[in-house]
Amino acid sequence: MCGIVGYTGGHQAAPILLDGLSRLEYRGYDSAGLAVRNGESLAEVVKATGKLYHLADKTDQGRSLIGTCGIGHTRWATHGDPSVTNAHPHVSGNCTGSGSGAVESDVVGVHNGIIENFAELKEKLLHHGYQFYSDTDTEVVVKLVDYYYKKYKIGPIDAITRTMVRVRGSYALALMFRDYPGEIFAARKDSPLIIGTADEAAYLASDVPAILKYTRQVYYIDNLQAARIAPGSVKFYDLNGDEVSLPLTEITWDAAAAEKGGYEHFMLKEIHEQPTAVRDTLNSLVKDGQIDLSATGLTDDVIGSLTQVDIVACGSAWHVGMAAQYVIEDLVKLPVRVELASEFRYRSIPMPGNTLVIVISQSGETADSLAALRVAKERGATTLAVVNVVGSTIAREADHVLYTLAGPEIAVATTKAYSAQLAALDVLAVQMAFLRGTVSGDQYTHLLEELATIPDKIRRVLEDKERLQWFSSKIVNAHDIFFIGRGLDYAISLEGSLKMKEISYIHSEAYAAGELKHGTISLIENNTLVIGVLTQSQLFEKTVSNMVECKSRGAYLMGITTNGNFAVEDSVNFTVYVPRTDEHFVSSLAVIPLQLLAYYTSVNRGLDVDKPRNLAKSVTVE
Ligand code: M6R
Repeated sequence: MCGIVGYTGGHQAAPILLDGLSRLEYRGYDSAGLAVRNGESLAEVVKATGKLYHLADKTDQGRSLIGTCGIGHTRWATHGDPSVTNAHPHVSGNCTGSGSGAVESDVVGVHNGIIENFAELKEKLLHHGYQFYSDTDTEVVVKLVDYYYKKYKIGPIDAITRTMVRVRGSYALALMFRDYPGEIFAARKDSPLIIGTADEAAYLASDVPAILKYTRQVYYIDNLQAARIAPGSVKFYDLNGDEVSLPLTEITWDAAAAEKGGYEHFMLKEIHEQPTAVRDTLNSLVKDGQIDLSATGLTDDVIGSLTQVDIVACGSAWHVGMAAQYVIEDLVKLPVRVELASEFRYRSIPMPGNTLVIVISQSGETADSLAALRVAKERGATTLAVVNVVGSTIAREADHVLYTLAGPEIAVATTKAYSAQLAALDVLAVQMAFLRGTVSGDQYTHLLEELATIPDKIRRVLEDKERLQWFSSKIVNAHDIFFIGRGLDYAISLEGSLKMKEISYIHSEAYAAGELKHGTISLIENNTLVIGVLTQSQLFEKTVSNMVECKSRGAYLMGITTNGNFAVEDSVNFTVYVPRTDEHFVSSLAVIPLQLLAYYTSVNRGLDVDKPRNLAKSVTVE
């Protein structure tokens, strides 16, 4: 949540900062702001509520803000409503206004994260004569840095590290000090922050796409580290203020991957990138017809000795876990438990024997998933992160990492990262089954051959998108939609329902089809849309029966099934077929029409598909 950027170098900073923020807008879009300095001059702060273009308009696309060093922020409000006053940057001075204009302040800063003890710190600062103009925890932390800076007459790094010791919570901070023109200071704990270098310039950002246009050379600043950034120079410090060295990483992403590339929305582009995302992920794990997990560090011995698998994640990543549960149970015959990270972290779940805890996360920064990972490690489990963003906190802290190769995902509603995760978990299940002897060599070969067909089959499902576009125009005014299925189809229903509600704002629920008559069926009225997922042959007839029960109470039915199950058309009003494939992997196909349906419904309702209200791509707060 919230995106931060920073630039210092030889060019005008504001257009670069706005460009970077435009690529981070998926992280927050309640308000945005910039602070830019021109040499020794005071920092000029400009803020605007709403989407980033308001800030761009206010600054003539950045041209009216003169200066070559600056910081910027796009906000997802946590403390205080989305107003100009609460928008970042925040300043240390005792100004009475909103902290905008040329600010008479020694410290100016932007922040991503939550300072948990901000109220207590604010009390302390009020006692020392500080005044506050906003409701934010960020203003408190900026003023605390200023307080230590002046009280102890120390340098910025020492003032920052003292602050880091004092605050509780999470932060990625970027600060400018009046006495240090041309420099930006940064600090990080549990919120993402990268620092990029180039000749005579340096950059700072919450995520790679913000700076990919300018440099591919980045440092991943560690937890509880601070940094000092000047044109062409970056230094890192630990909590004691001692300089530390960090490795420089070369980003290999294709810069075009973070652009819309002619599509109307990132989500549509990312839906279409799924064949590639799945193929790349599969190819990284399957070589010459054999699964090779050596890059993850998971050995055959570890896999062979497992007694239980726990999968922990949030949102769509949790839905991947739900799907993987059925596949692992069926192929590997190991007990599998799937938990929401936000629940797992506060439960006393026993982890007997050799438990593997798999944390699934696109961003690798989700606060609840990170906390769950730490809990699992404390309890002695072996941990595996299935993560898309290289160098993210979850990837760095897990014992083992399996990277999905979906590339940068910008739309808040995940599609290609979800599909890549599903493919990765399927490969893992097949390998576990093979190593533990629960599938034969022939079955192993068959399963891998089937997996290899998935990218092309996804492409074929995408070719049917016009029918879904047409159907979405019929349901655009729906009040409620129910998604039902059994087994793996239930897991896919969960994802279809979340996709629909998060971007179309139509209320929807996913139910295990057999549960309907235990309460939910009372909600079915004339024309209530019920979408049944029917890809599992053993459960097909049962789910059709449940759909017919809904139809006889007035429901309008849509079914998703595999090619050849034409009898379904006798019962449902609209049918979508996906290619036949091994039933363990058919979810990778069945989810595509549900993504398209949600996408077109959002478009037909005139909504902001890529940036749905109240949401942010990466949920780095609890
Ligand atoms: O980055 P993560 O995979 O950890 O994110 C988890 C969820 O926040 C995410 O999947 C969310 O549910 C998406 N908006 C769903 O489209």
